[in-house]
Amino acid sequence: MEVVILPEIEAIGVLAADAIGELLARKPTAVLGLATGSSPLVVYDELAARWAAGKVSFAQARGFTLDEYVGLPAGHPERYRTVIDTVFVSRVDFGKGAVDGPDGLASDLRAACASYEDAIHGAGGVDLQILGIGTDGHIAFNEPGSSLASRTRIKTLTKQTRVDNARFFGDDLDAVPTHCLTQGLGTIMEARHIVLVATGRGKAEAVHHLVEGAVSAMWPATILQHHPHVTVLLDDAAARRLQLVDYYRETYLSKPHWQGI
Ligand code: F6R
Repeated sequence: MEVVILPEIEAIGVLAADAIGELLARKPTAVLGLATGSSPLVVYDELAARWAAGKVSFAQARGFTLDEYVGLPAGHPERYRTVIDTVFVSRVDFGKGAVDGPDGLASDLRAACASYEDAIHGAGGVDLQILGIGTDGHIAFNEPGSSLASRTRIKTLTKQTRVDNARFFGDDLDAVPTHCLTQGLGTIMEARHIVLVATGRGKAEAVHHLVEGAVSAMWPATILQHHPHVTVLLDDAAARRLQLVDYYRETYLSKPHWQGI
């Protein structure tokens, strides 16, 4: 696990966009795993700017989102299919239907989960997965207690996650759905490269467990310690509880630029 601590949030966007740009240059048909939430917005903003400048194209790429609320009506602004379209997909040149997400309105939710797994597999698997992390250590919506080998399935959101996400629903906790469909931890672990973005003090405890804690279903993101290629991009505030913070800084400073992440 590589830990990169950068003082400016914009620099996190640049570094992640560099990795995605390099991937698309060598594999234009790359499959991207797309998180929603606020953490990856700097990455999407940077990629949209590069697309506008003609520096990157998504025309042959595919995308898969991580999760979806159950029951939010089509067109609801917080439905993750709508969100990813607004914050990223509509701002670049993905082909029609190139970005898919779990169907939280399916009449058979279990079947929708199974077919989502098939779709990811059929596309050849995710080449680069962008992740955020919840304050309770969730990745996608794999809440504490999730099986470390889980696949796409229905989950109940914790109160903490619903409180955290109420800001997207006019601070109305009751408006935040209670259930979701989410890629499992086992599903996410099959991505070839995982880039996790965490910023702000509120993420410091989860980041501490992710990077330096014991692997445990109580902090689901810790499963990433078993992945061979994970890059954790942090600002100073999110890194503040890391024991080896000086080592991570020195390691990155002495890394040759051409090596990328
Ligand atoms: C969103 C997702 C979640 C978020 C996490 C952090 O698709 O899968 O795991 O990444 O809740 O959210 P933010 O980035 O809003 O703090």
